Amino acid sequence: MTMTHEWRSMQWSAEYSVNNHAIDLQHQRLLRMINMISDGMMSGDARRVSEMMLSELVAYTRSHFPTEERLLKKHEYPDFAAHKQEHERFVERVLHFQREVKLGRPASSLNLSLVLSEWFTQHVLGSDHRCAEYQRK
Ligand SMILES: [Fe+2]
Ligand SMILES: [Fe+2]
Repeated sequence: MTMTHEWRSMQWSAEYSVNNHAIDLQHQRLLRMINMISDGMMSGDARRVSEMMLSELVAYTRSHFPTEERLLKKHEYPDFAAHKQEHERFVERVLHFQREVKLGRPASSLNLSLVLSEWFTQHVLGSDHRCAEYQRK
């Protein structure tokens, strides 16, 4: 599956940085989780890994999003509300996956990987980078 291969090999790169060390460390942690989830799926241990990683992901969103939102507020970021809404939508999706995986729905794991890699490229490398861009000015 070529699609799987693409995000499986996702490595941190200097250009992913938002010029904030704490935030970068958290984004790196997310990337490691994405890779671990895909590795678990490749090894056929999808359900167990997904369940474990989803708990981690939920914990991650509860620490990362407030950190980022505090920073955006401090810098009076004009698109704060929209950014926060993206976070909230993501939390809803993660919680939805957690419920699905607990119910043993097999398609969920693959969907989760796709949603996470999409989140990383669109939100982290998109929205979060626009915030960093703004803060630099
Ligand atoms: Fe972020
Ligand atoms: Fe964000």
